[in-house]
Parts: sequence; structure tokens; C-alpha cells
Amino acid sequence: MEHKTTRRMLAMAAILGLGGLVALQAQARTGTAEEIAERLRPVGELCLQGMDCGGAPAPAPVASAGARSGSDVYNSICMACHTTGAAGAPMKGDVAAWADRLAQGMDTLYAHSIDGFIGNSGVMPARGGNPNLSDDEVKAAVDYLVDASR
Ligand code: HEC
Repeated sequence: MEHKTTRRMLAMAAILGLGGLVALQAQARTGTAEEIAERLRPVGELCLQGMDCGGAPAPAPVASAGARSGSDVYNSICMACHTTGAAGAPMKGDVAAWADRLAQGMDTLYAHSIDGFIGNSGVMPARGGNPNLSDDEVKAAVDYLVDASR
């Protein structure tokens, strides 16, 4: 009887000890985001989206990674003319105004948006006037604009 109890207690202690070890290890492996960033720091400064990383201007947008969506690009600049009709721009959602333009094919619309274009109704500035936009960002904005205008 006396023996059995001791053995059971030993077993319990062993299990508890094991559990404690596992818990400790788990804690070591996870940690807060700051701790993880700290551990990664020697590899390179880690700046995640949404973090304030010292206020340095972001590097020029790369076509793949940080590319903005069509609606983001549209709303950042294209809307100045294509939502208001300013400068003679065909308005977003005006199906009649876009029918003939769409008939030219998307490649022409992309080229006119990237290189700029002077037509019968006005001047479409190259990249909407923002030279920092990548080709893919301009194309995405064109897609967004014409999809809302068919
Ligand atoms: C300063 C005003 C202005 C801004 C900003 C602007 N556009 Fe335009 N856009 C025009 C005008 C004006 C036309 C019509 C030109 C014509 O046909 O005479 C036009 C035409 C177009 C066309 C049709 C081209 C064709 O071949 O018929 C597309 C597509 C287009 N814009 C996309 C965009 C996109 C995408 C942006 C934002 C990146 C943008 N525009 C920003 C003024 C603007």
C-alpha cells in the first residue's frame, strides 16, 4: 500500500515534469511578435505591413509583391477624371461612352493608359499622371474601370 502510493506519486511527478518541459519549450518557440522580430533582426530589418517602420518612404512599388489593386489605383488617381468626366474623360459606368473604346481591344486600352493618349475628347495622361505606377498597376486600374463600364 505504502509502496503503491509512492510509485503513483513518482509517476505523477514525472508526468507533471514532462508537461512542464513541453510547456516551457512551447513558450520558447512562440513568443510575442516583437520577440520574433527581434530574433529575426540579424537577418534583416523586419518591417511588416501595417507596422510603422521609422517613417522612411517605402521603396518604389515592385510589380509583384506590393502592387496595388485596380480599385486602389483607380481611386488614388484615375477617379479624378473618370469619375467626374473632367478633361473630357469617359466616365466610369457610362456604357455608351466605353463601347467604342472597348472595341479597340484591351491591349490598345492598356497601351493608351500606360503611354498616354490624345483623342477626340481630350488628353489621357501617361499612367494617369503618376509615373510611379507599374505597368501591372495601370492595367489593373484599366480592368477595374472598364469592368464597371460594360
Ligand atoms: C487628367 C485626367 C485623367 C486622368 C487622371 C486619367 N485619365 Fe484616362 N482618360 C482621360 C481622357 C480625357 C480620356 C479620353 C481621351 C480621348 O479619347 O480623347 C481618357 C481615356 C482613358 C482610357 C480609354 C483610352 C482609349 O483608347 O479610348 C482608358 C482605358 C483610361 N483613360 C484609363 C485611365 C486610368 C487607368 C487612369 C488612372 C491610372 C486614368 N485613365 C487617369 C483623362 C484622364
